[in-house]
Amino acid sequence: MYRFLYRHLLARTDAEWIHGVALRSLAAAGASSLGRALLRRFFAPHLDSVLCVEAFGLSFAHPLGLASGFDKDGCALSSLAALGFSFIEVGTVTPQPQAGNSKPRLFRLLEDRALINRLGFPSAGMAQVARNLARRPALPLAISLGKNKETPLSAALNDYCAVLEHLYAYGDVFVVNVSSPNTPDLRRLQDEAYLADLLAGLQHTIAAQRAAKPLLLKIAPDLSFAEIERICALALQHKVGGIIATNTTLERPPSLRSAAARESGGLSGAPLRDRATAIVRHIHSVTEGKLPIVGVGGVFNGSDIWEKLRAGATLVQAYTGFIYEGLAFVRRAIGELRSIMAAEGVRDLRDIIGKGR
Ligand SMILES: Cc1cc2nc3c(=O)[nH]c(=O)nc-3n(C[C@H](O)[C@H](O)[C@H](O)COP(=O)(O)O)c2cc1C
Repeated sequence: MYRFLYRHLLARTDAEWIHGVALRSLAAAGASSLGRALLRRFFAPHLDSVLCVEAFGLSFAHPLGLASGFDKDGCALSSLAALGFSFIEVGTVTPQPQAGNSKPRLFRLLEDRALINRLGFPSAGMAQVARNLARRPALPLAISLGKNKETPLSAALNDYCAVLEHLYAYGDVFVVNVSSPNTPDLRRLQDEAYLADLLAGLQHTIAAQRAAKPLLLKIAPDLSFAEIERICALALQHKVGGIIATNTTLERPPSLRSAAARESGGLSGAPLRDRATAIVRHIHSVTEGKLPIVGVGGVFNGSDIWEKLRAGATLVQAYTGFIYEGLAFVRRAIGELRSIMAAEGVRDLRDIIGKGR
């Protein structure tokens, strides 16, 4: 039903407008206990202790979380939790509110099961996000840290630290986002010289808080394996808790068929899957499993989750898969993962992490 509606109705309307309507509807549904109960009743997955995952000192009911960018300001967290995601990444959040790039800036590539976005960090700003997170649901929450567009790279650390400090009480995990392609020069923060200062500064800010919380690093899929190895070495040196691999890509695989493939911005969804998985595998191999990995890119179903775990991910996230599969996405994907585990005789997900070739 959702797929039919998506193809024939939603697909003809502006993608960002629909996203706004969906987010506001979810926020409204999540505001009442009846709304949350109905969402849980119809859409949440059936849980089983064999699906549980431990990472960064936190427990997750299963490996599938919601990737950054879907709920940038933390408006609809109660509903998203009721839909069954095991963790949610809010953001990316900037210190000051900003509108992002001019519209249109979000495009569906239906034939390719993909999206292209060049949103450029629209954010309500950290003060409003803190108010939104004051009543957060009880599941692990990651917060993605960003910088304002006008902030020069030389002052980026101040922006990242400001958001970290302001939202420290509200998140369980913090993510340094230096990999979005739509903020000019942001990806240069992945260069060793910038990144070392950024990680050191953020860890210094965390050390000044009452309790230590993990800091993760989200990387681009367009880095070479040599660059990724240098970033992993730096991450280990600066006691980063894990790597999120990956953000959207600037590449345009020749296989793309949709007219919107010509739009500029970051490509996500099915065409990103294999590259993102190869990066997960590479990180797991070069770090010998010492850095927990959150695998993201092209996850649409249980077998995509299985593949990312076997490549070396401990957790998995999705954004585009949720858009294409609809409200029952988590229930379906986790049900499929459970079936694969049963068929393969796996009783503990730790047994398969990094075990695929
Ligand atoms: C519309 C849109 C907005 C996004 N915004 C952010 C963001 O603010 N911060 C971030 O780190 N990643 C952002 N992402 C990237 C996703 O978190 C994810 O890394 C990427 O889309 C690949 O996963 P997917 O194939 O499941 O979509 C965004 C993706 C999309 C499609």
